[in-house]
Amino acid sequence: MRELPRRLRRALQGHSALVTGAASGIGAALAEVLVAAGVRVWLTDIDPARLAETAARLDAPWSVLDVTDPAAFRAAVDAAWARFDGLDFLFNNAGVGLAGEVRDLTLADWQRVLDVNLRGTVHGVDAIYGRMVERGRGHIVNVASGAALAPRPGMVPYAAAKAAVVGLSSSLRAEAARHGVAVSVACPGYVDTGIMDRTPHVGLDRDGLRAAIPIEPISAAECARRIVVGAARNRALIPVGAEISIEWRLARFAPWLVDIIARWRATQFARHRVDRPRSR
Ligand code: NAI
Repeated sequence: MRELPRRLRRALQGHSALVTGAASGIGAALAEVLVAAGVRVWLTDIDPARLAETAARLDAPWSVLDVTDPAAFRAAVDAAWARFDGLDFLFNNAGVGLAGEVRDLTLADWQRVLDVNLRGTVHGVDAIYGRMVERGRGHIVNVASGAALAPRPGMVPYAAAKAAVVGLSSSLRAEAARHGVAVSVACPGYVDTGIMDRTPHVGLDRDGLRAAIPIEPISAAECARRIVVGAARNRALIPVGAEISIEWRLARFAPWLVDIIARWRATQFARHRVDRPRSR
């Protein structure tokens, strides 16, 4: 793993952080980058076995947390806050994917994605923001996605949840600044984690679709490093991956072109639709 620039390591040294979804992928990598920079990290995840493994590897405290449970989120923040005598960072990273055309999805599919990705983030804000305001400092870093910045046919509920996280973050950032609290949102592109294997593919040929992705993923370690660098520099928006920076600019300055690309993507998705999607 590439080290953080020395100046940033010095700035982060001795700080404290709580990371959600820290058992694997980007969350585990965020915890690792932070620990390496001298940050005291409290790991949380819904998956106790993998979380215990990751926490043991990093020699960090942990607690099981399902981010869809607001009371449990408050309890985790309380525990970490007491242990570290305050929290400087909250990384709202836990998330789940969902692939499938809207015509094949049920309301339960929508709800699961909105519950974890959007409500989970809201619960994190609810649990910690007031305390950070009272303390006069703190930094909430929300992990959204490139899917929030440009259309993602075949991932509509996911894109909707992540776009809401971007909206939440940019507006709260403006409100929070007066109180000494920072808010950033990271929008990674394609990152090599287990999320694709865990993502339900409704009515889609998973392997065919995966093979058709035209770009190579970056590693979770590199993604986490860029998120931590962006957060340490207090960036409002942290795009991760060249394709995301390009898409983001295109969406602003050439929306007509983005629309054409998105329709082409929708056609590609439809090509991988299986004949008989699951019954509703
Ligand atoms: P991952 O599946 O490796 O890690 C997600 C973690 O969140 C898992 O450890 C899982 O157990 C945990 N989790 C799931 N539901 C939870 C819940 N209700 N409460 C607490 N923890 C829960 O996935 P990855 O790729 O590391 O994803 C991390 C974040 O990055 C997610 O928010 C994801 O949407 C986002 N992201 C990932 C990209 C990728 O290509 N891997 C691209 C853009 C964004």
